[in-house]
Amino acid sequence: MSFDIKKIREDFPILKRKVNGAPLVYLDNAATSQKPQQVIDCIVDYYSNYNANIHRGVHTLSQEATDAYEKARKTLQQHFNAAQVHEVLFTSGTTEGINLVASGFSEILKPEDEIIVSALEHHSNIVPWQMLCEKTGAKLKVIPMCEDGSLQMDVYDTLLNDKTKLVFVNHISNALGIINPIETIIEKAHQVGAAVLIDGAQACSHIKADVQALDVDFYVTSAHKMCGPTGVGMLYMKEDWGKKLPPYQGGGEMIATVTFEKTTYAEMPHKFEAGTPNICGGIAFGAAVDYLNEIGFDAIKKQEAALLDYATAQLLQIEGLKIYGTASEKTSVISFNVGEIHPYDIGTILDKLGIAVRTGHHCAQPIMDFYCIPGTVRASFAFYNSIEEVDALVHAVKKATMMLS
Ligand code: ALA
Repeated sequence: MSFDIKKIREDFPILKRKVNGAPLVYLDNAATSQKPQQVIDCIVDYYSNYNANIHRGVHTLSQEATDAYEKARKTLQQHFNAAQVHEVLFTSGTTEGINLVASGFSEILKPEDEIIVSALEHHSNIVPWQMLCEKTGAKLKVIPMCEDGSLQMDVYDTLLNDKTKLVFVNHISNALGIINPIETIIEKAHQVGAAVLIDGAQACSHIKADVQALDVDFYVTSAHKMCGPTGVGMLYMKEDWGKKLPPYQGGGEMIATVTFEKTTYAEMPHKFEAGTPNICGGIAFGAAVDYLNEIGFDAIKKQEAALLDYATAQLLQIEGLKIYGTASEKTSVISFNVGEIHPYDIGTILDKLGIAVRTGHHCAQPIMDFYCIPGTVRASFAFYNSIEEVDALVHAVKKATMMLS
């Protein structure tokens, strides 16, 4: 399909609204993406026509809902190229996926073990591992970052040893947009026998990850960053780990048999999916992935690269503006400050002009500490953003800078 930005923008009803009297310019896509009509229709269709619980009923509605939910799982399997459909687990989002794996490893790790995270992580890929270390006595090590936002890969080499059991890195940094060299990270971790979890929350709207080609053990993401709804995500878990890890939560659906003497567990994915899931969310996640594939990831990449290049060049013309995260492997996220102006003040003025950006530490305080700043203004672009919206941003930042200097 040829890339027609005008037509694509028509798919997103929210892009027609005004904020504070100005046309909405939505540049907070790293926090959450907007939803196309196709996904909204899918949600309305589910609740209007076949809302029912799944895997439980013989009645028609239950079967229709089960079929649609399992079809969505298959869509995710194909999209992420998982070898088996049961390696695709539905979660409530990236955070739950990470906590599920951390909870499983709390029964495996020993005090002499080591685990590695990167300095670029979101708090959701730091705190669960700190809690795991507190519980097990294992040690947490950190791959440091460079000034340009890339990782110090030579230090990573020195951290790996036969005590390393797990490595956790994000595919793309939410705060800076830097793409991490996950292929190398996974390969080197496997050489010492460590498992790897990749946090793909920021990557999956930009890049099509292939879990078999990556040979990754766990890959987590959230639907809401991929034009899908909030409250649903995916944990890809290699089949071997599905056998080794204990269940995360106990409840209905995750059992094979229950007596008061002993319960036996279902096979994956159900072993890790206790309780009634976010059925509509899962189905709409599938619709969102279909929508993105219809646009095509090559077209998405091209449009976002054009937005990134143009916005970077235009913003850098503003006196005193500094961009954080300048490594060449980067997606369409620009984190910046202007002189000593507090990011929150710039963000507030941008909002008055109808422009939505995120300000603050972006749930990545260690990155802000590295740069000795309280936070940044973060403009994050999606394929449905236009060059005119970049112009609006640049104009508004200039105006805010003049007002606040
Ligand atoms: N993790 C999301 C962000 O980066 C919420 O804004």
